[in-house]
Amino acid sequence: MTDNIRVVRLAQDYEFKSFDCGNQDLNSFLLSDSKAYAKRLLSVTYILETDEDIVAYFSVSNDKISVPDSDKATWRKIKSLFPHSKHRSDYPAVKIGRLAVNGKYRNNGIGSDILDFVKDLFITDNRTGCSFVTVDALREAIPFYQKNGFKYLDKTAIETESDTCLMYYDLTQLVD
Ligand SMILES: CC(C)(COP(=O)(O)OP(=O)(O)OC[C@H]1O[C@@H](n2cnc3c(N)ncnc32)[C@H](O)[C@@H]1OP(=O)(O)O)[C@@H](O)C(=O)NCCC(=O)NCCS
Repeated sequence: MTDNIRVVRLAQDYEFKSFDCGNQDLNSFLLSDSKAYAKRLLSVTYILETDEDIVAYFSVSNDKISVPDSDKATWRKIKSLFPHSKHRSDYPAVKIGRLAVNGKYRNNGIGSDILDFVKDLFITDNRTGCSFVTVDALREAIPFYQKNGFKYLDKTAIETESDTCLMYYDLTQLVD
């Protein structure tokens, strides 16, 4: 089922094929907004496709993690990843603004493969420094991100009513 999938970077002349991930906001971002975001340099969208349909997509933007985003214990842990002379109040990151897999292709490891692709993209030939991947994870997707090594940036946010929770992945563990 996952054979013949290619990854393309969304261009203005890209012709969308059918896509439904079951979440209207995520469907509509891809089909209606992603090109405008690309044009304004707000995000870059990558599409996994076959000849027939769009299998999945994700969008990434520059980001940072900083003290106010984090609970104290987590920030201490983050700082401990760096030598004392490199301690600062924020660190560069890449944000996965959107990630969605077509319902037809769910639970085949594609979402996890995309996270591995993003991790690799920002440690291999990266053009700017980037220490972390961040995501505002939808509550229902939190187990998926945890399975892929993401952690809560602010543990106290779990108790709030918010639909999303800020999580991060430490890229430095891949280059040590
Ligand atoms: C979350 C999503 C990207 C995962 O994609 P996928 O290709 O199915 O992911 P994988 O096959 O790599 O991993 C699936 C694992 O995540 C878990 N998972 C995925 N969605 C889940 C959910 N809603 N609730 C609980 N677990 C979930 C599965 O149980 C599975 O775990 P297992 O391997 O231990 O059985 C996909 O379900 C999706 O597009 N969901 C709708 C949009 C969404 O929530 N996007 C995330 C925005 S932050």
